[in-house]
Amino acid sequence: MDLNFASDNIEGASAPVLDAVLRANAGPAPAYGADPWTARVESRFAAMFEREVAVFPVATGTVANALSIAASVSPWGSCLCHFESHVIDDECGAPEFYAHGAKLIGLPGTGCKLVAAEVAAAHDALPKAVKQMPPQALSIAQATESGLVYSVSEIAALGEVCRSRQLAFHMDGARFANALVRLGCTPAEMTWKAGIDILSFGATKNGCLAAEAVIVFDPALAASIAYRRKRAGHTFSKARFIAAQLEAYLDGDHWLANARHANAMAERLARGLLALPGVRAAWPAETNSLFAIMPEGLDRALRNAGALYHPWSARALAPEETVNPGEVLVRLVTSFATSEAKVDSLLAAARSAGGAS
Ligand SMILES: Cc1ncc(COP(=O)(O)O)c(C=O)c1O
Repeated sequence: MDLNFASDNIEGASAPVLDAVLRANAGPAPAYGADPWTARVESRFAAMFEREVAVFPVATGTVANALSIAASVSPWGSCLCHFESHVIDDECGAPEFYAHGAKLIGLPGTGCKLVAAEVAAAHDALPKAVKQMPPQALSIAQATESGLVYSVSEIAALGEVCRSRQLAFHMDGARFANALVRLGCTPAEMTWKAGIDILSFGATKNGCLAAEAVIVFDPALAASIAYRRKRAGHTFSKARFIAAQLEAYLDGDHWLANARHANAMAERLARGLLALPGVRAAWPAETNSLFAIMPEGLDRALRNAGALYHPWSARALAPEETVNPGEVLVRLVTSFATSEAKVDSLLAAARSAGGAS
């Protein structure tokens, strides 16, 4: 039995997305985004966000984030983010590289969530002399790298901090759909209505082959992105294939159904695993991942049974939580393609280990 819970990008693409790519293969089409698929996707995003938006399809989340941040700060500026965020920790410096030397400043927060009052205080305490790099943007991930979700009012409070301090507000939405279905709000409510200026809209983790989009709500930020994307080598000549993925992803709310399923599988996993002796959640499983603190013996038994998942850093734990000697903190991720049987197999392996300590 497949017991691979390493990430949501271990899976292939969903059938509707693959079918759409094959259909888009028939016949010639204008290159570099002048094709009808791209035009339709632009209209789809405008309808979905209930306003005009600028849409820049790309193929990786890293480039979506890097372009977004580069458009938001000057080379001598800085962007605030969580200290364990993907943009600062997992992109090999791409945002700073694309922004020609701008810097990211990491701030603390349990479960990779930033709190408005703390961001405001950290911002205001930064030295503002010409020797320092002035903060010009804030980037948050929704859902966070810990699988937590900002409520709409938490985003709006951060949005107010940005508005009052002239910071551009970026959302890394690599798991946008998982957060959206968790909140049950509209895409508009979770973004521009709460102050988001620019969004990395993720789709690869939730069913696409390789498709993300930079969605820009602030027209001033959009102006440079077509050029930046081309310089980054992310303006695809056969752009129809990226757009076809996004179109199928959004069609019939396929993306929301996928995300609901992924979240439900994480909930099932959490229900089973957290019932075992010695296992507790590092923070609630709000989207499609479970961060569990478990006895080393159980971890060993699961790995011996063939389970795959990553050990995780304890840096974003709540101050009152700790990983004790003899325990490990691990991340298990579910996806649109995770079956109930797969979750149940992992739980069976865990139970037969008896929650072993
Ligand atoms: C929070 C977050 N942002 C962005 C990304 C996008 O990364 P990639 O460049 O691999 O598509 C990921 C993928 O792991 C992620 O977890």
